[in-house]
Amino acid sequence: MATSSLNYFHFHLYLTLIISIYFTTITSTHAAFSEQSYITLPSDSEKVTHLRFYYHDIRNENNPTVVQIVDAPKNTPNGFGCVLVMDDALTEEPDWSSKQVGRAQGIFAQASLQDLGLAMLTNFVFTEGKYAGSTISMLGRNAISEKIREMPIVGGTGVFRFARGFAIGFSVHSVSTPQHYVVGYNVTISHP
Ligand SMILES: *[C@@H]1O[C@H](CO)[C@@H](O)[C@H](O)[C@H]1NC(C)=O
Repeated sequence: MATSSLNYFHFHLYLTLIISIYFTTITSTHAAFSEQSYITLPSDSEKVTHLRFYYHDIRNENNPTVVQIVDAPKNTPNGFGCVLVMDDALTEEPDWSSKQVGRAQGIFAQASLQDLGLAMLTNFVFTEGKYAGSTISMLGRNAISEKIREMPIVGGTGVFRFARGFAIGFSVHSVSTPQHYVVGYNVTISHP
C-alpha cells in the first residue's frame, strides 16, 4: 500500500513535470497555429519517383468495381455517412484499352457535413515491371467537387518501402460516363 502510493506520488510528480515542460514549450512559442523551421531529409540516399496512372470506377449491375456498403442515414446533408469499397483497374492512359498497371483497392466515406469531402484510404497495388507486387498507400481528404485534389501518400511496400509524398487526382471528363468514371493520378514520392 505504502509503496504503491509512493509510486503514485512519483508518477504524479513526473506527470506534472512533463505537463509543465509541455506548456512552457507551447507558450514560449506563442502557441501559434503555424510555424516553420527546417529539417534535413536524407536526400542523398533517396530518390523521387513520379507515377501517372488512371483509375476506373465502374458502377454497373454485373461487374461493378465500386460498391456502396453503407447507405447514408436519412436527413444527413451531402450523403454524409455513406461508405464505399473499390477495387478499380489502373491503366497507363485514360483509355480503358490501354495497358493495365495495377489496382486501386480501398474504402472511402462521405465524411464532410459542409460539402463533398471523402475520407479516403486507398492502396495502389502495382503489377507492372519493377513495381510489380509493390504498393503505396494514400490516406487523406478527397474534396471531390474540386477540379484538382491532393492527398498524402503515407507509406509503401516493396520498392516503395519508406515512401512518402503526395498524389494529385483529377477527373478525366472527356472519357467518363456516370457508369464508368475515370480519375487520373499524378503521384510524387520520395523513397530509398
Ligand atoms: C499530371 O502530370 C502531367 C505530366 O507531368 C502534367 O502534364 C499534368 O499537368 C499533371 N496534371 C495535374 C492535374 O497536375
